[in-house]
Amino acid sequence: MAGGYGTRLHPITLATSKQLLPVYDKPLIYYPLSMLMLAGLREIAVVCTPLSQPQFEAVLGDGRKWGLEIVYVAQAEPRGVAEAFLLCADYIAGDSVCLILGDNFFYGHGLPEVLQEAASLKEGAQVFAYPVANPSEFGVVEFDGTGRVLSLEEKPSRPRSHHAVTGIYFYDGQVCAIARELKPSGRGELEITDVNRTYLERDELRVTELGRGVAWLDTGTHDSLLEASRLVQMLQQRQGLMVSAPEEIAWRRGFISLAQMKDLGQRMAGNAYGQYLVTLAEQVARNQPSAPADA
Ligand code: G1P
Repeated sequence: MAGGYGTRLHPITLATSKQLLPVYDKPLIYYPLSMLMLAGLREIAVVCTPLSQPQFEAVLGDGRKWGLEIVYVAQAEPRGVAEAFLLCADYIAGDSVCLILGDNFFYGHGLPEVLQEAASLKEGAQVFAYPVANPSEFGVVEFDGTGRVLSLEEKPSRPRSHHAVTGIYFYDGQVCAIARELKPSGRGELEITDVNRTYLERDELRVTELGRGVAWLDTGTHDSLLEASRLVQMLQQRQGLMVSAPEEIAWRRGFISLAQMKDLGQRMAGNAYGQYLVTLAEQVARNQPSAPADA
């Protein structure tokens, strides 16, 4: 989901989409896209404004370079996250589906396994909770002492817990029908929290807490955008491993060959990003120990 005008980030989003802004060395959308790839998902619809579609196409293309199939779906007005299911209903065609917000950044140990398990969901919905200091800026989930979900609220002025609902959601085939029944909220949007509440009422919502070992950043403000850049820079410089490089993940997941990954690197051989991919490909080809498999 990469729509919206990014007004909170003006003036840097006057001429470009928020999800194409840099987070250190990659466009922001590379990070949520990498989460879909780590979940093993390869059929991807990018929902964006008609104006920004050519820009997204210039960056991602049809996805073939990374072994993906990417299509573009226009969202003419920002009518809410849940409108994705109305716009993409034909594409989803009754299947189970994952929605990720194009400005959500996740990083952490064990995340690929968590995502793969969620992607195998056949019935109900799976969302994730994360502790935040400012819950009233998010969807908020309240648990009882046993971990059962008591309530879900969108941006409550008096939040009942510190647990935000993150911007990655897994749904079964009911989701498009549920979205069709939604009414716009006070802010005039079809709210994803209302979709989740419907699953909760049907007793078909699973909420998993992402613990301290995971970083979840919402990059919607100037400060949080810079914080995400700093985190990626720090991790990459310390470890010598890339965070969310789609080329590397595509190779590790078997979507493209080692030679294809090397070729993608060679096209950017003048910079550290390209050199990383080329060096990784050469190390693997020489059978040298390379980066651990958890990309
Ligand atoms: C959206 C959702 C909210 C969720 C948040 C995560 O908010 O409505 O429930 O917690 O994303 O990033 P929005 O970014 O549309 O304000």
